[in-house]
Amino acid sequence: MAGKESPRRILVTAFVLSIACSLFVSIAAVALAEAQDVNKLFDKQRNIATVSGLSEGVAMTVESLREIFTQIVPRAVDLDSGEILSDFDFENYDERSASRDPELSMKLSRSQDIASIKRREHVSLIYEVLGDAGDIQAVILPIRGYGLWSTLHGFLALEGDGKTILGITFFEHGETAGLGGEVDNPKWKSLWKGKSAYDDQGNIAISVIKGAAAPGANAIDGISGATLTARGVDNMIKFWLGELGFAKYIEKNFRS
Ligand SMILES: Cc1cc2nc3c(=O)[nH]c(=O)nc-3n(C[C@H](O)[C@H](O)[C@H](O)COP(=O)(O)O)c2cc1C
Repeated sequence: MAGKESPRRILVTAFVLSIACSLFVSIAAVALAEAQDVNKLFDKQRNIATVSGLSEGVAMTVESLREIFTQIVPRAVDLDSGEILSDFDFENYDERSASRDPELSMKLSRSQDIASIKRREHVSLIYEVLGDAGDIQAVILPIRGYGLWSTLHGFLALEGDGKTILGITFFEHGETAGLGGEVDNPKWKSLWKGKSAYDDQGNIAISVIKGAAAPGANAIDGISGATLTARGVDNMIKFWLGELGFAKYIEKNFRS
């Protein structure tokens, strides 16, 4: 005959089990944290390589990425002056923490904050693709801004003229798959290639519009059923190409 379980015994068993499970989850989280960081870095580098155009037709492995990154040089840009900072401590700089730190970032006023990011870091890490002669063949700019459900993080790549768009990519967002998530659709991303970020006077020339852009127009089709995410992308592009973003860096390094 099966013994009757006392409520005390059930409670103790449940308690021990819950402690064991939470210990297991905590240990797994700690043990996997490093692997997750490595994966995040790999994914970010993969996006940089893709948007630079250097990985076309190349299988993306740790080795091929390492090879591609011999041509890609990170730079620290002072966004307030547009100057590239020399002797910058890349190892100990995290843009995301900087953008939350009052000493390392500026609070944006309502009218400034068109990308809905609240604060903008003083120093941004960009990536220059260098040719054999040390010439800048492309520049990869980090961009972020709010869509409908989330802040989208990505890169916008410009050619060596500092205005022709090479590509756009997002490495992190929480928009709905099939709707706002269509920002990841290669077909939509391909619309950006060859468009002009700036006109000849240095004014921002690119827009994401609602609906389809006219043939030959310097505009990107909106995303059907995801007007709000598309508007978010338009806002973030305008912010990061603008005076509070990379306009001064572009002016100093590509137009003068
Ligand atoms: C469950 C759900 C998820 C949605 N996700 C998105 C989204 O990720 N991005 C977006 O812009 N709109 C999303 N929408 C639609 C918006 O609410 C809104 O209708 C849409 O942006 C309008 O775009 P349209 O004018 O092209 O139809 C979602 C709607 C629902 C019901």
